[in-house]
Amino acid sequence: SDPGLVARARAAKEALGDRVFVLGHHYQRDEVIEFADVTGDSFKLAKDAAARPQAEYIVFCGVHFMAESADILTGAAQQVVLPDLAAGCSMADMARLAQVEDAWEALAEAGVADAVVPITYMNSSADIKAFCGRHGGAVCTSSNAEVALEWAYEQLPDVEGGAKVLFLPDQHLGRNTAVLQLGLSLDDCVVWDPRQPNGGLTAEQLRDAKMILWKGHCSVHGRFSAEVVDELRATIPGVQVLVHPECTHEVVTRADLVGSTEFIIKTIEAAPAGSSWAIGTELNLVKRLAAAHPDKRIVFLDKTVCYCSTMNRIDLPHLVWALESLVAGTVVNRIEVDPETERWAKLALQRMLDLPG
Ligand code: 13P
Ligand code: SF4
Repeated sequence: SDPGLVARARAAKEALGDRVFVLGHHYQRDEVIEFADVTGDSFKLAKDAAARPQAEYIVFCGVHFMAESADILTGAAQQVVLPDLAAGCSMADMARLAQVEDAWEALAEAGVADAVVPITYMNSSADIKAFCGRHGGAVCTSSNAEVALEWAYEQLPDVEGGAKVLFLPDQHLGRNTAVLQLGLSLDDCVVWDPRQPNGGLTAEQLRDAKMILWKGHCSVHGRFSAEVVDELRATIPGVQVLVHPECTHEVVTRADLVGSTEFIIKTIEAAPAGSSWAIGTELNLVKRLAAAHPDKRIVFLDKTVCYCSTMNRIDLPHLVWALESLVAGTVVNRIEVDPETERWAKLALQRMLDLPG
């Protein structure tokens, strides 16, 4: 990266000292990760955001929903900055509050709303998290989806037929966790398509389902295919396939190991020298792992380049601009959740943070 910008970022961080805390998600570019005080998956970063109450400014190098969660979990005196406001998440955008409210109404009409616990993946807007908080549900991340779902199914012990979960917005994480970790069958799961009347489901299907999956997905992880898994197994002897649970069920069932970005990193760190790995997650992270572990063979689980374009919007020029603005006394790109949304979203996030494990 540009040495002039590197020097400016360093100088601005030094000038701010403990007043600034820079968080970096594992999918961020190397040039940005270099300036992160902590790195992590979305669960770790949610916890870390709250762990530095003395920092006036939290500069969040990640995407919009993560910065919102940081704002919800940090004190009122702390200001959260997202260096580029265009760093959104296409998956989070697939569930809008009005659509979720329509789905809830349809569940009420089918006579099952009282039996449903809404769980939203961290990758959702603050108002969706607030919706879950208001209706007795919680947030989960890819690190704790299994415990969050177990918790959800225990919430309505007396309801006829047992509790159901409405899982937002990633159908793949919901399905993979329900089937592979909780032992539900694929037939227990139905997909609610917000673009179709009544989600494309009958009242009977809603009544019979144990898991109602929102029709959302990650455009990055959705690209990995079962064919490439089979091809790599045929060409790299002994290769182990390690994927993120946002991948399709077909890919996840063919993998050796599945887990969040933090799990993927720990697995590679603990792997013996000489072992071979095909990794299905965002390319910045896979490249960094390959560079950090030259004693292991690490390949990307796709033939094409597969960055998360919105994560990549945070680059060194944006980071320098955000930091230098803070040095000059101007808070740019502040992410601030309104108090009513914050109150309910915080409850849903707190229920997640209180989960065992
Ligand atoms: P984790 O950080 O939970 O592994 O999620 C990956 C992701 O897609 C973040 O946007
Ligand atoms: Fe969203 Fe997927 Fe990018 Fe994560 S990797 S921010 S889920 S689009």
